[in-house]
Amino acid sequence: MSTTANAKFEGTDRYVATPDLMLAVNAALTLGRPLLVKGEPGTGKTLLAEEAARALGRPLLQWHIKSTTKAQQGLYEYDAVNRLRDSQLAGVSDDTARRVQDIRNYIVQGVLWQAFVADEPVVLLIDEIDKADIEFPNDLLREIDRMEFYCYETRELVRARHRPLVFITSNNEKELPDAFLRRCFFHYIKFPEAETLRRIVAVHFPGLNDELLAAALQTFLGIRQLPGLKKKPSTSELLDWLRLLMAEGVPAAEIAPAGQELAVPPLAGALIKNEQDQALFEKLVQMQRHRR
Ligand SMILES: Nc1ncnc2c1ncn2[C@@H]1O[C@H](COP(=O)(O)OP(=O)(O)O)[C@@H](O)[C@H]1O
Ligand SMILES: [Mg+2]
Repeated sequence: MSTTANAKFEGTDRYVATPDLMLAVNAALTLGRPLLVKGEPGTGKTLLAEEAARALGRPLLQWHIKSTTKAQQGLYEYDAVNRLRDSQLAGVSDDTARRVQDIRNYIVQGVLWQAFVADEPVVLLIDEIDKADIEFPNDLLREIDRMEFYCYETRELVRARHRPLVFITSNNEKELPDAFLRRCFFHYIKFPEAETLRRIVAVHFPGLNDELLAAALQTFLGIRQLPGLKKKPSTSELLDWLRLLMAEGVPAAEIAPAGQELAVPPLAGALIKNEQDQALFEKLVQMQRHRR
């Protein structure tokens, strides 16, 4: 098993990485341990794995977790239904008869298996691990630790030829077990500072008008600071909103009215995603009017 510890991650032309995030990715590379990345939705967790793979020149294998995902599916699945069907057809063709004999023909490799047997080191993304049930992380401890597992059906030990760089993301919907945490390097992507946010926007919209950007950022950060908001808009929502503002040709003066006034911005539906927050926002605007 080999690791490529010499390559370092420094962000890309499409991804703005803060120094502490770079440090975390490189620590995971050096330790050969998974990097557990937490943060609000839309803070660039998934994109980090994609861009790290691109920067390091490694293939990316992705495993998107759902509430019904089981750890075993990442290793392999035995396709008994297909084998049964083939066995019923075995009389018809010799090929099928031969196929049925060998159970290996019915073992479907999961994404971990593929990552382990790849002939070069890969980046493996286990995305949104907190979606799965509570047993899921525990069921993967040994595989992640030892980088091996046993396939009972074929009686073979599947071992990693190269240690993959593993990214595990979580939106923090569930706590992860201590035994699992112990095996990971941890990084929390904080919501970006205004300066980092500016750099992220520049990566997506290089020629953006300064005035528009300043007005949009002022309004966006103002909304994030509203007390009692259920769901704060994230980086990806800011980007969507900017795209719309540009497409509609909304002037900067309409986005952030002069002075410290609070106003519902144009195309607010890109930023505020539920009726409670919408009502709260409108109420705050009204209260401000009454005060004047
Ligand atoms: N650091 C960043 N650099 C560049 N784009 C970013 C960054 N963070 C977030 N984005 C933008 O936000 C979008 C959402 O990111 P994503 O990785 O899907 O978030 P998460 O997985 O944390 O919910 C990305 O597609 C990208 O456009
Ligand atoms: Mg994501």
